[in-house]
Amino acid sequence: MTQSGKGPLTRRQFGRFALSLGAASTLSGWMRASAIQTPEPALAPRVLVGGANSLRAHAEARGLLYGVAVDPALLDVEGMAAGETRDRYTLLVATQADILVAENAMKWAGLRPTADKFDFSLADRMMLFAGQTGKRVRGHNLCWHEGLPPWFKDSATKDNARQMLVAHIRTVAGRYRGQIHSWDVVNEAVEPADDRLDGLRKSPWLELVGPDYIELAFNTAAEADPQAKLTYNEFGIELDIPEQTEKRTQVLLLLRRLKARGVRIDAVGVQSHLQADGPQPGAGLVKFIEEVAKLGLEVFITEMDVNTRNVAGGPDQQDAAVALVYTNYLGLVLAQPTVRVLLTWGFTNAHSWLNNGMDPSNQRRDGSPQRPLPFDDKLKPTPVFLALRAALDKAQPAPSPAAARTEVPPSAAPSPAAPPTPTPNTPPPAAPVRLYEPFSVKGSPPAQPSSSGPSQ
Ligand code: XIL
Repeated sequence: MTQSGKGPLTRRQFGRFALSLGAASTLSGWMRASAIQTPEPALAPRVLVGGANSLRAHAEARGLLYGVAVDPALLDVEGMAAGETRDRYTLLVATQADILVAENAMKWAGLRPTADKFDFSLADRMMLFAGQTGKRVRGHNLCWHEGLPPWFKDSATKDNARQMLVAHIRTVAGRYRGQIHSWDVVNEAVEPADDRLDGLRKSPWLELVGPDYIELAFNTAAEADPQAKLTYNEFGIELDIPEQTEKRTQVLLLLRRLKARGVRIDAVGVQSHLQADGPQPGAGLVKFIEEVAKLGLEVFITEMDVNTRNVAGGPDQQDAAVALVYTNYLGLVLAQPTVRVLLTWGFTNAHSWLNNGMDPSNQRRDGSPQRPLPFDDKLKPTPVFLALRAALDKAQPAPSPAAARTEVPPSAAPSPAAPPTPTPNTPPPAAPVRLYEPFSVKGSPPAQPSSSGPSQ
């Protein structure tokens, strides 16, 4: 998943990421994925997904927030502002999600075209959409060893990296101050395989700033946006295999060190990029979540998807395998009262990073696209949707109504702290529009009346 750990990023790594950003903000990933024709899996009877039938409504009924990673370039913000969008992707995001995260647009490479310029156009676009539709927003991320712009390698030095990190966090977290539910302040900082006593990854930040870069990032974020929940986000900590068990231990040690030093940290993000085959998460992760809870931190499931590269068979077999993983995994983690937030990394198979062609190891042998998410490339719900929704219904209810709600209310109107960068992508602020008309798949049976659709 990540490939560093051997010192600062190579040119290839920077280039790869910069390229991937380009790919992610166009429709090319979609075109590639949909170019491969696969038979549609059967899902009978047709399933209603709008209003009270949405993932969002089912999550809210249990005091949870369900969210998705989006590419802001794909959102029809202009149509939304005019109250007349017919874009199905946009409507589906509006219908299904409580909370949004930018898949790439808020990363360094997404915001920093040059060393002295910020380009907030895509990030602002998502904030605007969140304001139009009353969504919360996760910020992802402020400090990571990947997702750095190509110029970083040549510009960042031991003399200026500390100041660069602080300035970046002040500018970015400051711009959206008061509007972010939670910031992934530091992403993927632990890597036991890098063989350091402190368990930290040998990232550019570690090498340029030193091991205290983590607390520097958290302290700076705490000042820049005091309301956001400050999150440490990590991958590869879900399974009961030796490397991941060790990584969980090292993450806990890091969290304890930060707490002991009085650093404010509010949550841990468990990315949850799972595999349809092989070992599955179990008791180790549950224990980890309990330990995190003892430290007074929440746990967010931040990037769930299920890799189907090794699943033999057609779409039906893939969907069945993925649905089972969602059922089992969410059964495990949503039984924990501290887990109140769940996001999938995208929500349609067409837009999944696993289908964007960047990583050859994600190619399926038969050349067909992976099916990691609840909606297919025609934006139809798959059996994964049903499994996910059923798992939400079984989630542990919030301990109290107060705990079910997070401190930062959903965006009511677009109001960036600083004036948005003028760009053709950023239309003038518009009045919020009502969106939550039931959104059904063509041919669906009539909606069942339900009392579970909470208000927002
Ligand atoms: C991924 C994006 O989905 C890709 O489009 C991009 O090419 C690379 O980054 N963990 C993270 C996310 O924290 O930021 C990564 O997102 C997926 C793994």
